[in-house]
Amino acid sequence: MSSETSSQKRKILVTCALPYANGSIHLGHLLEHIQTDIWVRFQRMRGNEIYFVCADDAHGTPIMLKADELGINPEKMINDVREEHMTDFADFHISFDNYHSTHSDENKALAEEIYNKLHAKGHIKTRIISQLYDPEKGMFLPDRFVKGTCPKCKSEDQNGDSCDNCGATYSPTEVLNPRSVVSGATPVLRDSEHYFFDLPAFEQMLKDWTRSGALQEEMANKLAEWFDQGLRQWDISRDAPYFGFEIPNAPGKYFYVWLDAPIGYMGSFKNLCDKQNIDFDEFWKLDSDAEVYHFIGKDIIYFHSLFWPAMLEGAGYRKPTSVYAHGFVTVNGAKMSKSKGTFIKGRTYLDHLNPEYLRYYYAAKLTNRIDDLDLNLEDFAQRVNSDLVGKVVNIASRCASFITKRFDGMLSSNIDDQALADEVMNAGDSIAANYESRDFGRGMREIMTLADKVNEYIAIKEPWQLVKDETKQQEVQDICSLGINMFRTLMIYLKPVLPVLADSTAAFLNDELIWEGHKTLLTDHKINKFKALLQRVDMDKVNAMTDASKDNLAKKETVPAKKAKKKAEVVSNQAALDDPLGQDPISPEIQFDDFAKIDLRIVKIINAEHVEKADKLIKLTLALDSSDAEGETRQVFAGIKSAYQPEELIGKLTVMVANLAPRKMRFGMSEGMVLAAGPGGKDLWILNPEDGAKPGMRVK
Ligand code: MSP
Ligand code: ZN
Repeated sequence: MSSETSSQKRKILVTCALPYANGSIHLGHLLEHIQTDIWVRFQRMRGNEIYFVCADDAHGTPIMLKADELGINPEKMINDVREEHMTDFADFHISFDNYHSTHSDENKALAEEIYNKLHAKGHIKTRIISQLYDPEKGMFLPDRFVKGTCPKCKSEDQNGDSCDNCGATYSPTEVLNPRSVVSGATPVLRDSEHYFFDLPAFEQMLKDWTRSGALQEEMANKLAEWFDQGLRQWDISRDAPYFGFEIPNAPGKYFYVWLDAPIGYMGSFKNLCDKQNIDFDEFWKLDSDAEVYHFIGKDIIYFHSLFWPAMLEGAGYRKPTSVYAHGFVTVNGAKMSKSKGTFIKGRTYLDHLNPEYLRYYYAAKLTNRIDDLDLNLEDFAQRVNSDLVGKVVNIASRCASFITKRFDGMLSSNIDDQALADEVMNAGDSIAANYESRDFGRGMREIMTLADKVNEYIAIKEPWQLVKDETKQQEVQDICSLGINMFRTLMIYLKPVLPVLADSTAAFLNDELIWEGHKTLLTDHKINKFKALLQRVDMDKVNAMTDASKDNLAKKETVPAKKAKKKAEVVSNQAALDDPLGQDPISPEIQFDDFAKIDLRIVKIINAEHVEKADKLIKLTLALDSSDAEGETRQVFAGIKSAYQPEELIGKLTVMVANLAPRKMRFGMSEGMVLAAGPGGKDLWILNPEDGAKPGMRVK
């Protein structure tokens, strides 16, 4: 398909995951939108018929409660947020053909139609379930809206479904002293009839689909794990009050947000089809020859690779050609953090920096795998400056003024170095293949290697020396003309990533930079005066951006009521809610080198004592070699108090991470970590000295 010779125009529909309508777009969302936009712009350049749609995901409990908190109705809130999202995306040059909302007529009609078809085919089951209910607020509580004491380690103020202290997962009904995060009331158990989608009925179809080669390898592996665990029926209903669509013939029951969210892809496309006279069915009918792709993050694979294809199959629609998942953005090596100023909103970025820097940096680091992507801000500045300013734009700035001043803007009719020109022009196929396969990083490296070669050519030819010799003027024109041409070819290759730089290049060169243009050179062609095309990234502006991101937090924290703050936390935690089956997102894959860095050591517990005022911690003194207290020791605080008496630990061996950076805790420095394995309770990994283990041994 990616071959330059294929003249068949492809029909393609592409989507990005629909951002929730209760928060701003941040640099994490933007990875997805930039990745998809680059792919879409590339397909457009190649002449394919492609539609790129998205929408805001407007339903669900967190959105309802957030509107409540703001004292406005949800419709008003989702409209405002949608406006904000659309402006942010436009400013990052995300070229949607349509940006709709899941709270739309099209989506309602499609959700009802799909549900009715599933129902008619017997794929909807009902049963009574018992759930925690907030009697004060008059609503059932999703897991994350319940807090209380962990049933395993007794740590207080833990989530309704998992404990941050001991890592246990449990049902909200098991939580001790539960309370509703919404009102603070003590929840009660209440029965209610729920509607379920019969996912297990689609197991064989899903297995076949997984094996069809349409999915990334890591995704197929994850699915295989889920099949092994067994598929379960999916609860698709929520009781009123709920902001969403009411289920047909089920008064007071609403579609769970994740039921109508993916249908929102269709809803947005339907809205576009109606506006532009596109044939909706041609894309979604069973035997459609159009291609449909969903770009998503790794946290929502379950919904897109199991529920969604099964719903489509059950309702008689075609399935996606593929679902492409990407990893998560980290900033400076860590999860985006509000306190470090690395939780950066798209708007805060735009207030300080050019969006094309980020587009390029993400492109340069993207693969087609599900790896996380680190936005290291120093590296970001350095990479953009060295590649875009120092390599690509540099070619034009070194050559342009000679052409303008000496040759009246005319490019020569001679090709000074045909071999170089051929090399740059012939790279088009391989660069296209990298775009097609979403291996953007590889494509960017290829382009920069070519840029290096062109710069080397100019450096060797030294037109600035030749220009002093009146007899060498033709040479100067030929060299600089080839330089400008090579710059043009490289900018054609970079156009999907850098649409604005490509536009200013097009104006400078009097050329449209169409993809096919990479096979030709401009000869006897007039260009315009060169103006600076791109500024260097200024690290001061990067720092100003992180400072401003810290400000956002300070403002937020002035929200007076503690209750309101709690609510906000929960609302921002929607990701966890989105995992109704409690499936773990894929942990980032680490390389052997990462693993090799960990110094796992057998250590002897030479002292263990209670920590005053800490209800979970035991303070351990660990000897790193056999010489006990005379040798090197480490102090570690471990949250294992509920499982051990300190005395029983003294003299035992355990395994520790010996090279973990020390961490200041409330009760003192913790200089490492002891390993735990097991279901909870007696979790520490205790070794018996009699078994031959010796302190100081390395574990590998
Ligand atoms: N509303 C759902 C998607 C419904 S699709 C039918 C949702 N919304 S979200 O706003 O939480 O996330 C939207 C997309 O952004 C998801 O694909 C998610 O993986 C992605 N990202 C959110 N934070 C991210 C990072 N830090 N890094 C990379 N992508 C991230 O999920
Ligand atoms: Zn716990």
